[in-house]
Amino acid sequence: MNRYFQTFIYAFASLMIISCGGDSNAVDAKSDRSVQYFPNMYESVGYETYQEGDIFEGNVEAQLPVEGTVNRGWLPYEYANTNEGYASAKAELTNPLPYTEENLATGQELYNIYCAICHGTKGDGQGHLVKTEKILGVPSYADRDISQGSIYHVMYWGINYMGSYASQTSIEERWQIAHHVDALTRELKGQDVKEFVTVQNAQEDISGTDSHAAEDHGVDMHGENAHDGDHDSQEENHSSTEGE
Ligand code: HEC
Repeated sequence: MNRYFQTFIYAFASLMIISCGGDSNAVDAKSDRSVQYFPNMYESVGYETYQEGDIFEGNVEAQLPVEGTVNRGWLPYEYANTNEGYASAKAELTNPLPYTEENLATGQELYNIYCAICHGTKGDGQGHLVKTEKILGVPSYADRDISQGSIYHVMYWGINYMGSYASQTSIEERWQIAHHVDALTRELKGQDVKEFVTVQNAQEDISGTDSHAAEDHGVDMHGENAHDGDHDSQEENHSSTEGE
């Protein structure tokens, strides 16, 4: 073998051994590059979440939203979790969603998911948890003097042993459920079945609002004129701002 080549191999091999050798800083040195291309990509000019910074109150970047801020798409619920709030909601609040087959069907589906376990699919208070004696005191809707407003109210706040459904359901979904509970109550009480409004009628019902609002059931959701034309019907994460 060529001598020079042999020397080269030895030299190369020892170089490899040295460079792979147990230098504990080797890894650090690798990640600590001396040259940064486009340093802005490594070190953002914007503030990082929770970063410290003198210009911020409390020296931290993360600040609370300005008082009175509400999440996009979320509307404040004006009725307090008190007896008076319940009474006012029961008397004043009406269902803003048209009584369509579709709204009722969705309401039924959601009711069967969230409510039937206690209230029973018929609303007679004979849900699975009642039959297996896991919970007591679930009434038949027929035995309660309820309105769509009060139904909405108890879904929002809960009542005694019944918890709140405000975080699981959107405003629209709660009103869809309210339609279904109302329909069940009528059936239990032997009252007349309500007629569906056709889509045509439903559109007339909400005419007088702009076109964006027409597809948006956030309109007058709580019987308040809180609508500013820029909400959608989804409610997200309301509880973080509610302070329940
Ligand atoms: C864990 C069992 C349970 C679940 C699930 C449940 N409820 Fe209730 N609900 C109760 C109990 C218990 C009461 C009786 C509360 C009281 O008045 O003491 C009640 C009462 C009610 C009332 C009558 C309140 C009044 O004004 O008298 C309505 C309406 C109602 N529930 C609707 C619903 C709806 C709609 C859902 C689903 C979104 C639901 N409930 C889910 C247990 C439950």
